Parts: sequence; structure tokens; C-alpha cells
Amino acid sequence: MKILNVVGARPNFMKIAPIVEEMKKASDLKGVLIHTGQHYDEAMSDVFFRDLGIPVPDVHLGVGSGTHAEQTARVMVEFEKVCVEQKPDLVVVVGDVNSTMASTIVAVKLLIPVAHVEAGLRSFDRAMPEEINRIVTDALCEILFTTSRDADENLKREGVTPARIHFVGNVMIDTLMRHRTKAATLDVISRFKVQPGSYALVTLHRPSNVDEPGVLGGILEALKEISNAMPVIFPIHPRAVRRIQEFGLDTTGIRTVEPLGYLEFLNLPSNARIVLTDSGGLQEETTILGVPCMTLRNNTERPVTITHGTNMLAGPDKSRILDGFGFA
Ligand code: UD1
Repeated sequence: MKILNVVGARPNFMKIAPIVEEMKKASDLKGVLIHTGQHYDEAMSDVFFRDLGIPVPDVHLGVGSGTHAEQTARVMVEFEKVCVEQKPDLVVVVGDVNSTMASTIVAVKLLIPVAHVEAGLRSFDRAMPEEINRIVTDALCEILFTTSRDADENLKREGVTPARIHFVGNVMIDTLMRHRTKAATLDVISRFKVQPGSYALVTLHRPSNVDEPGVLGGILEALKEISNAMPVIFPIHPRAVRRIQEFGLDTTGIRTVEPLGYLEFLNLPSNARIVLTDSGGLQEETTILGVPCMTLRNNTERPVTITHGTNMLAGPDKSRILDGFGFA
């Protein structure tokens, strides 16, 4: 059986790693790794392949950045050629990025079944591009692998037959558990001159938070106030860097750093007193690490992180972030 495993953006790499590894062990499966090139910088892509031991992709589509339509369309045009040439028996997609949705549409139209890993998550916020990607992907995929029971319920509510839903657990957390010890041996925090358990870690990249000067400015002001109480470490996503420069915003007092690789980054939440983020994955990772997480969004597609007690929704408003800060 030939299986095309598709990845495109940073959060996909840690999800595909254990799947590729398992496929290598099965003599009757031939896994082919396709990288769409949605993320392409060394720090956004290559370092994750090295850190996680993922083999070099068999095919690189080189789609790069663009508007949603441009990026989605480029993946579709290039991935269609690969499907026609490779004639896979199955396509596996992970997560909720544009590459996930685009490759799913292509495969199902060529009558190739698609399996979605991390199916059924819903923020119920259609202003999030990822929510559109999740809905479209799940509607089209034949096999839906879920990470939580609420995801099963979301899919059933949308009319998916239970036979298509498989509650399998969380491959991103499999990767975290596998690399946690190694990440802990790295000395990342001395670079920031901070002690374990003493600092706040921040990540931000959602368009709703970084594309509006007022919203991004308010979050940065809250972070500056927090930095009076404890060091704030902020590895900045290229999208946020561009916006901060474009809007002329000030990050004085916040310890900003380039995006980090998987292992170095994992060291940071593990040692943090609190994490402030708009990332989906980090809400789950902090839950497993037992570190308080303040989510700078008004909703989450990962409600188990809230019911488990490690995560709270603070939204992007300065006053709510500062009010919620007692959570740490
Ligand atoms: C994408 C995903 C988002 C995911 C995030 C993780 C979609 C709709 N969004 O958002 O779900 O959480 O990745 O990072 O798929 N850029 C670079 N170098 C790169 C990649 C991007 O500089 O290697 C810059 C470009 O200026 C680009 C911008 O970042 O225009 C945004 O990249 P893009 O992939 O479009 O979306 P993300 O914001 O990264």
C-alpha cells in the first residue's frame, strides 16, 4: 500500500514524525513524504526535520507564501501532479493549515481516500482560517483520526457516520513525550539570563492578534507590564516580526528572539512559570507539561485543555490579560 504523507507548515512536522516512523516499520506500507513548502525558512521548517529525525521529503512542492487563495491554489496544482504520478492508495493529512485542506480537496477529486489526523477540532469561529480548513477537510476525508472525545462529538453532530471516526490520541504529544528528556538537557534559558520557573513565555501569530495594530499594540503593552513582574521571553514568528515593524510598535522590556527549533523551543515552556499564546498546539503541550497557559484568544478548538485546568481563555485585551495574570 502506497501512502502519501503531506506536511506544509511548522505545526505539521511534529505530528507527522511518529507516523512516518511507524510506517517505516511496516513492510507492507510504502510511505512517501510530501512537503508543500508552505513554510520554507530554515527556522520554520528544516530545523524541525533535523530535530525530529524526519527524513528529507521525497517531494517538495515549493509553494511558499501568498494569500490564502494563492497558497491553496498552488498546493492544489502541484499536489495534483504528484497524485497522478504516484497513484497512492491513501493520502494522510495532519492539522488544519492551508496545505491540509488543499491536498485533501485534490486527492478526493482523484478518488483517492484521505485520512485526517487531528480531525473534529472546532473553535466555532469561522473568522479563523484554520476553522475553514478543518471543516472542509473533515467533510471530505474518509478516515477521521481524533485526539479527544469532544472532537468525536463535533463530527457526529455534523453528520459523520461513527464508522469513519477513530479516537486514537494525540501524535503531537507522542512527539513531545519522546523528545522531552533530550530537550530538558539543553541549556536554552541561560541565554535569556532567567531561572527555571521564573519567566513568562509568549508566542503570537494569529492574524486576528498580529494583523491589527490596535490589538497587537494592546497585547505588547500587557507584555511590557508583565515584564516588570517577571522576565518575558518571546520567540517571534516572521508574520509578527513584519507587523511589529510595519506598525512601528515598541517591544522594549520584552526579550524577543528568532523562532527556535523544536528541541530548543520545548525547553522553554517546560521551564516557564506561565505561557501566553494564541497557538493551538501549545495549549495542549502546556497541559501535558502541567504549566499554566493563558490563551490570548476568545475561543479554543481544544476545550479539554480548559476542563483539565491548565488553560484559561484571556482574549487579546490588555486589561483581561493583566486581570488573568493571577492565574500564574
Ligand atoms: C500558518 C497556518 C497556521 C499555523 C502557523 C504556524 C494557515 C492558514 N495558517 O500560519 O494555522 O498555526 O502556520 O506557524 O495555514 N513566513 C516566513 N517564512 C516561512 C513561512 C512564512 O517568513 O517559512 C512569513 C511570510 O511572510 C508569510 C507569513 O509568514 O506571508 C505567514 O505565513 P503563512 O504560512 O501564510 O501563515 P502563518 O501565519 O505562518
